[in-house]
Amino acid sequence: MKTPYIAALQDQVATAVFLCEEQLEATVALLPEAVRPSLTPEAIADSNSLQYITPQATYLIYGLGKAAELTAEKLRKTLHGAIGALNKLKATQAQVVFLAPADVAQPEVYATALGETPTLSSYEFNKYKKKPKDPNTLTAVAIYTNLPQAEQLIEEATKTANATCIARDLVNEPPNVLTAVELANRARELGEEYGFRVEIFEKTKIESLKMGGLLSVNRGSQDPPTFSILEWKPANATNTQPIVLVGKGLVFDTGGLSLKPTAGSMDSMKCDMAGGAAVIGAFVALAANNIPRHVIGLIPSTDNRPGENAYCPQDVITMYDGTTVEVLNTDAEGRMILADALSFAKQYNPQLVIDLATLTGAAVVAVGTGTTAVMSTANDTLTQAIIQSGFRTHERLVQLPLWPEYREQLNSDIADLKNIGGRYAGSITAGKFLEHFTDYPWIHLDIAGPAFLETADSYRGKNGTGVGVRLLYDFIRNNT
Ligand code: BES
Ligand code: MN
Ligand code: ZN
Repeated sequence: MKTPYIAALQDQVATAVFLCEEQLEATVALLPEAVRPSLTPEAIADSNSLQYITPQATYLIYGLGKAAELTAEKLRKTLHGAIGALNKLKATQAQVVFLAPADVAQPEVYATALGETPTLSSYEFNKYKKKPKDPNTLTAVAIYTNLPQAEQLIEEATKTANATCIARDLVNEPPNVLTAVELANRARELGEEYGFRVEIFEKTKIESLKMGGLLSVNRGSQDPPTFSILEWKPANATNTQPIVLVGKGLVFDTGGLSLKPTAGSMDSMKCDMAGGAAVIGAFVALAANNIPRHVIGLIPSTDNRPGENAYCPQDVITMYDGTTVEVLNTDAEGRMILADALSFAKQYNPQLVIDLATLTGAAVVAVGTGTTAVMSTANDTLTQAIIQSGFRTHERLVQLPLWPEYREQLNSDIADLKNIGGRYAGSITAGKFLEHFTDYPWIHLDIAGPAFLETADSYRGKNGTGVGVRLLYDFIRNNT
């Protein structure tokens, strides 16, 4: 999808017009005579839409209501509706008109929303369909707006949305295609294309490093694990200590010997590498937009299966950092592979480590599919900043505590830690487990809810959402 900024409206192009009441007259004045008389305040009241077909072009008009009630998310969702309607009309090119109210808060968020939504909305994963049914037709959506710095922000947002779609593609790939080796290869190819460095540790290297967490989860698999290291280090990087992004790259989670017990709960588990996909997508976004930050990415990857040599409840595993872990549920595998990556991150002397993981069903129960659970040992400035990035991108976060009492649930009779807590607070005990392997400011994002959707949700779509890419990008660009 191309979304060029335009300084003047074009004739003879399908046009989607977004009207907030304060800009009614100014917006209407931009449109052809034939369309104007019907655009009364009543006709385009909040959430109304109208359609005109003039001899020159089709006009889709959307009322956004009063400026005071306008949000960027409302603009994204309304724009998503317009993109759907334009595709239904089989338009290949279109233009979007949005005049923001003069004193709109966070104008850059609105400009970003205009730039990203056409790409996010038009996403389809048709790779495995011989003859896709009614594929989207739009290839270019030009954007006309009065927002400051719109040209640069829209170009940037298109690239970030594109990176989000790359993450979606990775999540949507079936598990027989996207093995751990394939995930690493995709990272390498994207690194070559976008200009970030990728190093891949293969099984022998992982063995020589004694990454016991990753290796134990891999024991039931026919396919070798990988550990990918991504690096984006432009000459003008402003940070001396890197930011490290860690992504769970579990390419399929059966639960292992503690096989997933609930009917249907395995049916979306190709999404268990969505954290890894978000890290890869974030690197694409940072590199494509040349963001001056030094960032390292770590993606431990394997599938989790009940093979004949599979790791087993009551096994005691020696992790990469020497910690011993009593395994009491092989389905708590994410924390096993992430723990090794978090220990590995210490050598970089990081300013901040952020991990993203589809870690717990408890997070889905607690906050649903629209929200990410965040736990943090970073200072309040950084923690609040990522929560603010959540609001800006509408990849919203809600914080759970890491109070010391929760750690008691992980005490083991035989080892330093056990890999599950009790019945309650499962997302927090998972967080406490990971915390053990950190010695730096750290933010943990449990994306189990928003990573993969069974039913479509506006521009987030269905299946892989690419959650985390826009969030990480916004946070790293603006706060570190
Ligand atoms: N990958 C799952 C968590 C998950 C659940 C992701 C739903 C996306 C949607 C994770 O590996 C897992 O199985 N967690 C267990 C932990 C438990 C055994 C302590 C869970 O949440 O049930
Ligand atoms: Mn699991
Ligand atoms: Zn898992």
